[in-house]
Amino acid sequence: METENSRAVNADLPIGVFDSGVGGLTVVKEIINQMPNERIVYFGDTARVPYGSKSRDTVVRYSRQIVRFLLEQNVKAIAVACNTASAYAIPEIEAECPVPVIGVIRPGAKTAVEGTRNGRIGVIGTRATITSGSYKEYIREIMPGAEVFGQACPLFVPLVEEGLWEDPVTDEIARRYMASLIDRDIDTLIMGCTHYPLIRKTIGRAAGDKVLLVNPAYETARELRKLLESRSLISGHRYELGSTVPQYRFYVSDMADQFQKFANSIIKYGILAAEKIDIYNYSARPLSEGD
Ligand code: DGL
Repeated sequence: METENSRAVNADLPIGVFDSGVGGLTVVKEIINQMPNERIVYFGDTARVPYGSKSRDTVVRYSRQIVRFLLEQNVKAIAVACNTASAYAIPEIEAECPVPVIGVIRPGAKTAVEGTRNGRIGVIGTRATITSGSYKEYIREIMPGAEVFGQACPLFVPLVEEGLWEDPVTDEIARRYMASLIDRDIDTLIMGCTHYPLIRKTIGRAAGDKVLLVNPAYETARELRKLLESRSLISGHRYELGSTVPQYRFYVSDMADQFQKFANSIIKYGILAAEKIDIYNYSARPLSEGD
């Protein structure tokens, strides 16, 4: 549940979005599509990616540092774009954060439940996301009788980052990952990792055309919109191209140039700059304790 304290938020403030690296840009893309008048501050933890092979404690610590950074940027809400961070750190962030928080897992789970006809749902993600059992937990909350089958796909992230989006190697690996899920007769598959929507076609081919693919990035942007609407936090601003107000700001913890290149292949808007910051400066003490 979201918690709010006395922090003054207003509709014109930006939305904060974070991820372990570049993958969260798939969520940014959906937010831009669905809410073009919103300002966004994005942080990609490119120095410490991947999160998918790290422990819960580490992911929680990193996430809390990033939330502190985003709050310093005066955001009105935070979207945790990373599935692994959503799987491990949402309760801690929600408990401490003075602005509304949304992760990607709950919206993804809800959509899968709405889409399934036979109650057999597959989830693919990083090792951490699958081990956490978070998708299963949320799905079972809404649909107690659902059968949920997880499959970690650790090779997908590097394949996407190497640009092998349409490649026989990726096809072959996808077929292997999907085999056990197909055997379980799933009719719905959650792409539970930021990078997977970028190889949606490959995943779709391997899963077969009877399987409904759920993209939590899309659903998260929709839920975020509803959340902002319910709190009268939708921006009333109309941004013009070339406006003096920088509508989107991107920060990373390392490799700003590389980030920018990858980002421009995902977001057609054209990212002019990404700024490197020292995320270690942001203490992981509970947010309620202040600086
Ligand atoms: N962003 C991560 C996720 O959605 C994938 C990359 C990583 O392992 O950090 O789980």
